[in-house]
Amino acid sequence: MVKKNINTERFSQVKNSRRKFLNYLINFTSLGFLGMIVYPVIKYLVPPKNSEPNPISILAGEVNELENNSWKIFRFGRKPGILIKTPNGEIKAFSAICSHLECTVQYRSDFQHIWCACHNGHYDLNGKNISGPPPRPLENYKVNIKEDKIYVSSA
Ligand code: FES
Repeated sequence: MVKKNINTERFSQVKNSRRKFLNYLINFTSLGFLGMIVYPVIKYLVPPKNSEPNPISILAGEVNELENNSWKIFRFGRKPGILIKTPNGEIKAFSAICSHLECTVQYRSDFQHIWCACHNGHYDLNGKNISGPPPRPLENYKVNIKEDKIYVSSA
């Protein structure tokens, strides 16, 4: 009778330790699966650091290709830039990335200023945020014109 109780107790201990081991194994595997799901989602949501440096100066266009009160988008490294020929013929360049949620802005010839269609953000012709949700001005680029070619560089 006593021997039977010892065997039952021993069996219970082995069963408990096996159960603990299986619980650890299941928890460890669950963490692995959770990591496999969460890691790609985080990598998708967090943009990679820009490995390509912004160019010092790029050829953004030619003076003759833009009429007064018109605009075009150009590439400034990996970012879009906006080149504007104002109604009085002045040429200006800014980053085309809205300071609110990074939509690409455009020039509205009817408003005669820069507009972001995503949330109705407005910027004046100096890139200053004047209406809507954008919290900061647009990044201003320096414009140099040489022989009818428009060169844009970081200000
Ligand atoms: S992203 Fe431009 S106003 Fe919201």
